[in-house]
Amino acid sequence: MRVTVSKRAHFNAAHRLYRKDWNDEKNIAIFGKCSNPNYHGHNYELIVSVTGEIDEETGYVIDIKMLKSIVKTHIEDHFDHKNLNIEVPEFEDLNPTAENIVVVIYNKIKPHLKPSLDLEVTLFETARNFVKYSGK
Ligand code: NI
Repeated sequence: MRVTVSKRAHFNAAHRLYRKDWNDEKNIAIFGKCSNPNYHGHNYELIVSVTGEIDEETGYVIDIKMLKSIVKTHIEDHFDHKNLNIEVPEFEDLNPTAENIVVVIYNKIKPHLKPSLDLEVTLFETARNFVKYSGK
């Protein structure tokens, strides 16, 4: 039996959508107010879902305490109250769109899970706008 176990998490962060190889005029033409040079913030909400077989001995797919700890150490502590463009090395040369952020989050969590477990990450940038990535 394959079951999905999910953990919700959240972080606050600032960003601007911006490509260094475009001038301000082009950045603003493409990204609009999301490219405001003074940055803006989001309350990001996250759902981290792990799917796998139930272990016969423990009855767990994954120990949720372990999943909580992975998400706290590698995601919340890494992103919370940061300026993504300036303070998070993954976005030094990568535009911090919700799409790119969800892929970075997936790649940071995946190595800490047993290879037999499937991972899907859903990232809400606002209550109404969200993206999903499952490594495909
Ligand atoms: Ni934004």
